[in-house]
This record gives sequence, C-alpha cells and structure tokens, in this order.
Amino acid sequence: MPTEVPDDYRQKTLKESEHIFDALISAKGLKKRKVLIVGGAGYIGVPLTFYLLKRGYDVRCLDLLLYGNGHSIHGFLGEPGYEFMGGDMADANTVQTALNGVTDVLILAGLVGDPITRLYPEQSAAINDRALIQLLRNLDGKNLNRVVFISTCSNYGEIPENRLADENYELKPLSLYANSKVALESELLKMKNNVDFCGTVLRFATAFGLSGRMRFDLTVSEFTREMFFKKEIEVYDADTWRPYCHVRDFARAITTVLEAPQDSVYFDVFNAGGDINNFTKGMLVERIGTFLPDAEIKYVSGGFDRRNYKVDFSKIKNSLYFTPNYSVEEGVRELITALRDGFFADYEDRLNRLSQ
Ligand SMILES: NC(=O)c1ccc[n+]([C@@H]2O[C@H](COP(=O)([O-])OP(=O)(O)OC[C@H]3O[C@@H](n4cnc5c(N)ncnc54)[C@H](O)[C@@H]3O)[C@@H](O)[C@H]2O)c1
Repeated sequence: MPTEVPDDYRQKTLKESEHIFDALISAKGLKKRKVLIVGGAGYIGVPLTFYLLKRGYDVRCLDLLLYGNGHSIHGFLGEPGYEFMGGDMADANTVQTALNGVTDVLILAGLVGDPITRLYPEQSAAINDRALIQLLRNLDGKNLNRVVFISTCSNYGEIPENRLADENYELKPLSLYANSKVALESELLKMKNNVDFCGTVLRFATAFGLSGRMRFDLTVSEFTREMFFKKEIEVYDADTWRPYCHVRDFARAITTVLEAPQDSVYFDVFNAGGDINNFTKGMLVERIGTFLPDAEIKYVSGGFDRRNYKVDFSKIKNSLYFTPNYSVEEGVRELITALRDGFFADYEDRLNRLSQ
C-alpha cells in the first residue's frame, strides 16, 4: 500500500530540487543532476541505474567488475546520460576523476556478505575498510550535494525474540562484513557539520528480485532457485528472522533520499525496507512452497550463522514516506517466471562471487 505524501512535504521537496538546480546543477555547468554510483554494476546497482536514468538523472558508474560482471551493464553502454568508468575505488586518482562534475555520490561497492569476507579477510580489510574510508575522506570540498552510504540491517546481529530493531537499537555485528559496515557508518556520521555535503546511511534489508547481475547467494533467490530445480534444500534455523526488500524498491529508497529535503536526511540513519517483508526462514520457505510444492525441505538446527533480527521500518515510512511496492511473493513469482524462461541456467558456471 503506497504511503500518502503530505502536501507540505511535497512542497519542501520541490523547493529542494529548485535549490539544487540553482546551487549545484547549473553552477557545475550541467543540465541534469549527475550521480556517481560506486559499485553500480552490482546486483543492486543495475536496477538503481535503470531507475535513475528513467527518472531523468545522469549516471556515472565506477566499478571494478570484480566478478567479470560487465555483462550486467551491457544494456546501458552508449545510452545517453550513462557513463561507465572501470576502476578501483581504492585508487585516489581514479576517485578524483570519477568525482569530476558529479552532484551526488551513492556508495554501494564492496565485498558483500559474510561468506565472501570470511574467505577473503585481507581483501575485505583493503576494500570494505581502507578503500571506503579513504573514499569518504576524499568527498569534502567537491561541491557535492548528497552522499548515501549503503549499510546493512545485519549490523543488528542477534536480537531477542519479539523485539524490533529501530535505528537506535544497539548494533551487534557478528561478522567481518558487518563490522566494516558499522565502522564506515560511524566514519560518515562523525563528518556531520564538518563537510560541505549531506551524508545519509541506509541500512538495507536482504535483497531479492531480478537484476542484470543476479545473485543466488541471498536467501529468497537461493531458496527459490533450489526449490525450482527440485533439489532437496537445507534450511538452517528456520525460526530466525530477517527482513527482505526488492532491488527495485531499494532503487526507489535511494532516490527518495536524493530528493528529500536536506533537513530530513542530514547525517541520519534509516532502516530501508518495509514491515510487510519481515519473515522467518521457515515462513519464507512456506511461501515459496506455495509456488513450488514439490521441493524437499530438510530443516536443520544449530547453524553457525547466529543472525536473527526483525526490523522496524517506521522511520523511513513516517519521515520520508517510503514503503516498498513489492512483496516477497511477487519477487518469487518473477524469479520463477525467469527461470521457466531459461534465464540464469548458466549461473553455476558464472563467476558470480569470488571462487570458493
Ligand atoms: N544484496 C543485499 O542483500 C544487500 C543487503 C544489505 C546491504 N547491501 C549493500 O548494498 C551494496 C550493494 O550490494 P550488491 O548486492 O549490489 O553487491 P554486488 O557484489 O552485486 O555489487 C558490488 C559491486 O561493487 C564492485 N566493487 C567491489 N570492489 C570494488 C572496488 N574496489 N572498486 C570499485 N568497484 C568495486 C563489484 O565489482 C560489484 O559490481 C553493498 O554495499 C552491500 O553491502 C546489500
């Protein structure tokens, strides 16, 4: 159910966009707002790019194509308003060039998830800590408007049953991945009032939905794919909670921050997702099973991933009027259709994560 945006908020966002146009877009000699997406060739970066281009932004993507994932952006190459820059955000000169002439920066790049950071701890420290901290420290004085850092609800770790984690809930990162996210959040938030841009942290739920760089290591898509091929699937700790959100809703959530009045998002933190998509793994498998009833499910307890968090999304709903458009069921349905149509058949041969 879409949230009604009150008139006074709408007026403020209009004023904000006029201000941005005068103070930034025309001052930089641009015709449109031009957003740098660091990590824009990734799972979330691709639908985000579609959304921003459709909404009239120009987009520059800086990405190392770490997984050979150049195929994910083939459709954008040559598109008016789109630029791709291959390169490493750890390289200060590359970042300087990438920042040239942009109005806003969205930071998505990194080694994403617990398994990959556990396997590659040195690369994780180099990318998720050192490179990102250096990137943040290089953003002041570039006449930028918004800087949005994408963090994760994994930061809440393990919370007691029947509690909901809002943005003030204690952070208990349980992995290298979440530790880096917590450190980076604090690096950005301490820049408040000391830099010339407006920083915002979005703590994302776990993503689902179709993208040009598909990831099947994320629960909804992993379970759906395995159940589709009628594999026996193992579900660890079926009663643990996790919030989910469609990648196209994430694209909208980020754009909501870009377009919000500055005082609504200034060095603030928002959980990004919606209450409708908080599920236990057991509930999730049950829902996927309504579409794929033949799969065999084996429930296992005592897995080593202790994460268990149910998240409160009322802040983004009440102050930025954002609620997701997509339910998990809709995401599952669109993925099953794509699998039936023969897409992602080559997934196991593709280098979609670093080799394990
Ligand atoms: N996918 C999720 O469920 C989820 C949940 C919560 C938060 N997030 C956050 O969202 C962001 C995007 O996640 P994703 O699922 O799209 O991940 P992804 O792995 O698909 O995309 C990451 C992109 O970053 C690029 N990259 C990595 N290191 C780089 C470097 N040094 N320089 C330039 N580019 C580099 C990769 O090539 C890749 O294209 C991440 O910050 C992640 O932590 C994702």
